[in-house]
Amino acid sequence: MTVVLAIETSCDETSVAIVRDGTEVLANVVSSQIDLHAEFGGVVPEVASRAHLEMLEPVLTKALADAGAPGAPLSGADIDAVAATHGPGLIGALLIGVSEAKALALAWGVPYVGVNHMEGHLFATFLEQPDLTPPLIVLLVSGGHTLIVHLEDLGRYRILGSTIDDAAGEAFDKVARYLDLGYPGGPVIDRLATEGDRDAIAFPRGLMDDGFDFSFSGMKTSVINYVRKNPTASDADLAASFQEAVVDVLVTKAMRAADAVDAKGVCLGGGVAANSRLRERFAQEAAARGVDCLVPARAFCTDNAAMIAAAANYRLMADGPTGLDGGATPNLRLPTLA
Ligand code: KG4
Ligand code: ZN
Repeated sequence: MTVVLAIETSCDETSVAIVRDGTEVLANVVSSQIDLHAEFGGVVPEVASRAHLEMLEPVLTKALADAGAPGAPLSGADIDAVAATHGPGLIGALLIGVSEAKALALAWGVPYVGVNHMEGHLFATFLEQPDLTPPLIVLLVSGGHTLIVHLEDLGRYRILGSTIDDAAGEAFDKVARYLDLGYPGGPVIDRLATEGDRDAIAFPRGLMDDGFDFSFSGMKTSVINYVRKNPTASDADLAASFQEAVVDVLVTKAMRAADAVDAKGVCLGGGVAANSRLRERFAQEAAARGVDCLVPARAFCTDNAAMIAAAANYRLMADGPTGLDGGATPNLRLPTLA
C-alpha cells in the first residue's frame, strides 16, 4: 500500500491531494485563482506565484485533515511519498510546488517524485476507472494543449495529433474575450451555448479531413469576421455554433484515431473536457462504436493534484524516486515512444 501526497501548482490552481495506490482519493483540495486573474483577462505569472505561496500551506493543511478521521488529520508518518508537478507550466509557479514537495520529502524521510503535468492528465482517467484496459485513445484538451494520445500501455504513449496553432481551450478563451464574455472563456461559452442554436452559423471545421492534427486559429478568425459582418448576431448563437464546430473536429478526429489503432476505449482529459457538449458527443460516438468510454468527473478534468498523485504512484514504481536536486522545466514534454 502506497499513500502519495501530491502538489500541483503549474498554472492557476493550488492543489494538494492524498491518494492511496494511485486510485483511491483520500483528499483532493483545489484552490482556484480564477478570480485574481479575471480582471487581467488571463493568467498573470507573478500573481499566480504569489497566490500559490499564500495558499499552499492552508491547502496542504486541509488535505491532511480531509484524508484523516474527524479531528485526527494525517501526518508525515502516514505518507509514503511526496510528489509535485515539475513541468510543463509557469516556472515561478512550478518551483513553489516542487520546493515544498522536496522539503516535505526531506523532513518526512520519504521519496520525492517529480511528475509531468500532461502525464497527470492521462492518469486522471485511472482515478475513476482503474480497470480501463489499454490500448486507449485519450483526447487531452486544455488551455495549453490539444493532443490525441495513443496510450498503448501505462507509460507507453504515442502522440498521434496535436494543434498546429491555438490550443482548444485557448480558442474558447480568445473567442470569449473578443465577444466580451469574460475569463476563462470555456465555461462562459459552454453556459451561453445552451441558450443558442448550434446550427445557426456554419463555422468552418479546421483540417477536418486532414489526419489527426488540429487548427483552431482559423475558426476563431471566422467568428471575428462573422461578427464584423453581422454586428447584431446573438452571442448565444455565436457561442453555440462556435462550440459545435470545435467539438465536431475534436470528436471526429478522436474517434478516427480510435478506429485507426483499434482502441479498446476512449477517454477525455484536460480543462476543456469539462465542456458539456464535448462530453455528450464524445460519449454518443463511443457508444455508436461499441468502445469503452470514460468521461472523468469535471473535478478530475481541470487541474488537480489527485491526477498528479496517480501518475506519481506509477512513476515511483516504474522509475523510482526523483533526485532532490531535480528542478522544474516550463516546456517539459510528455515522455513518448519514438
Ligand atoms: O487543464 P486546464 O484546467 O489548465 C491547463 O492546463 O491549461 O484547462 C483550462 C482551459 C481553459 O482554456 C478553459 O477555458 C477551458 O479549459 N475550459 C473549458 C470549460 N471549462 C474549462 N472549455 C470549454 N468548456 C468548458 N466547460
Ligand atoms: Zn492542465
